[in-house]
Amino acid sequence: MPHETFRYRSTEELHNKALELGLNLPIQDSITPLLEPVNIGSKTVPNRIAVHPMEGFDSKSDGSPGKSAFRRYGRYASGGNGMIQFEATAITQDGRSNPGQLLLNEKNLDSFKQLVDHTRSEARLEFGDTHDPFLVLQITHSGRYSKPDGKPLNKVAAYNPNLDHDREKLNFFSDAELDELKETYIKAVILTKQAGFDAVDIKACHGYLLHELLGSHTREDSKYGGSFENRTRFLLEVVEAAHREAPEMVTAVRLNATDGIAFPYGFGVPEDGTPYIDLSEPKLLIRQLIAMGCSLINITTGIPYHSPQLVRPFDRPVKGTSIPEEHPLEGVMRMVNIAGELQHEFPETPIVGTGYSWLRHYYPYVGAAVLNSGNAALIGLGRNSFAYPDSPKDLMELGELNLRKSCVTCSKCTELMRMGRKTGCVTRDTDIYLREYKRKD
Ligand SMILES: Cc1cc2nc3c(=O)[nH]c(=O)nc-3n(C[C@H](O)[C@H](O)[C@H](O)COP(=O)(O)O)c2cc1C
Repeated sequence: MPHETFRYRSTEELHNKALELGLNLPIQDSITPLLEPVNIGSKTVPNRIAVHPMEGFDSKSDGSPGKSAFRRYGRYASGGNGMIQFEATAITQDGRSNPGQLLLNEKNLDSFKQLVDHTRSEARLEFGDTHDPFLVLQITHSGRYSKPDGKPLNKVAAYNPNLDHDREKLNFFSDAELDELKETYIKAVILTKQAGFDAVDIKACHGYLLHELLGSHTREDSKYGGSFENRTRFLLEVVEAAHREAPEMVTAVRLNATDGIAFPYGFGVPEDGTPYIDLSEPKLLIRQLIAMGCSLINITTGIPYHSPQLVRPFDRPVKGTSIPEEHPLEGVMRMVNIAGELQHEFPETPIVGTGYSWLRHYYPYVGAAVLNSGNAALIGLGRNSFAYPDSPKDLMELGELNLRKSCVTCSKCTELMRMGRKTGCVTRDTDIYLREYKRKD
């Protein structure tokens, strides 16, 4: 259906739009399921609203969090979010997607401890001792998107004509390099535990290295390419080691369930060469991840540079890119349905759902209905957390949200990121990010 911008003045209008599009949008009046606690590992998460990992690209040069990262996580905590997933944090200098991406190592471990302490104390100050948010650090290697000094390293696990413009310019990760990197992942898991996080999230989505490996059908003569067993080896071994080395910490995975890239270059797609959804391999993988000790899964889809509408339904595309040929509500429902199918297949493992920011101040009504029907255990928000970090607090205190504080899905946060600048909400957090957006240099 044709793309349209958000223009609904009531949940009824939103619901009618969904019916017109032939979508079965879950929606209910009561938002209480969002405010109920949920157990993950040995901890009780105070409510079901989660901040998705969102890069702020504002680290110090050694990769430690800067002033605005402390501000960002402090705001999420005092805003009442039950779970806070800290942004993609590189495990090696070469694996940074931007010179401002967080980087975790032995030298800057103390700064991460301070960030954890600060986040917990901001939550305590606002809500008292009984509200302790569940803190997750996402660790990553940016793979083909690594730009540690601002320039692409052009290093990939396998050539992908959908993503790589010039094959001649590419370098390839060798198996020996991947073996070594696996050890670095395990060290990063231990550092994550030492920093005081409740969980480590092994990022396997959006085209970054561990996700790329999942779709590396064409990687030849390698124990990390070709068969399902080989393509999933790296992720499974890291998860297994994470759980073994830090059993008291939850091991989580943020997983692309499908990426919209046809076989033999995509994951979660059928082998007939169409770019549609096929969850058979993701289900097989999730089963094995759980067996290896993964006890929290965040489901996402798409690759930002290739299929942004699969990653984050929007009103306005990133400047210079085209408007997709689908209604954003179709994008929202794709993610809601995929997470639901997986949550029903794996009812014992909490799944964090994605794709809710486009719904603005109506996300609680859809999120609550999703929780109510067991189609996810937590409702995650990405761009809306930048825009409206205290939406859970407003829900607790006012029972509803304010449209004027909500994300407008204008894609300007992504534009900031692509400009290599500090990233946040240009529309709602203007003092810092509108200035950053307008900066001439
Ligand atoms: C500026 C920006 C930064 C992001 N950073 C990350 C990240 O660090 N890790 C990750 O897994 N996803 C990242 N994402 C994706 C979001 O977590 C989320 O999946 C996406 O925005 C869709 O959710 P939403 O509709 O609530 O925004 C980022 C997205 C944006 C726009």
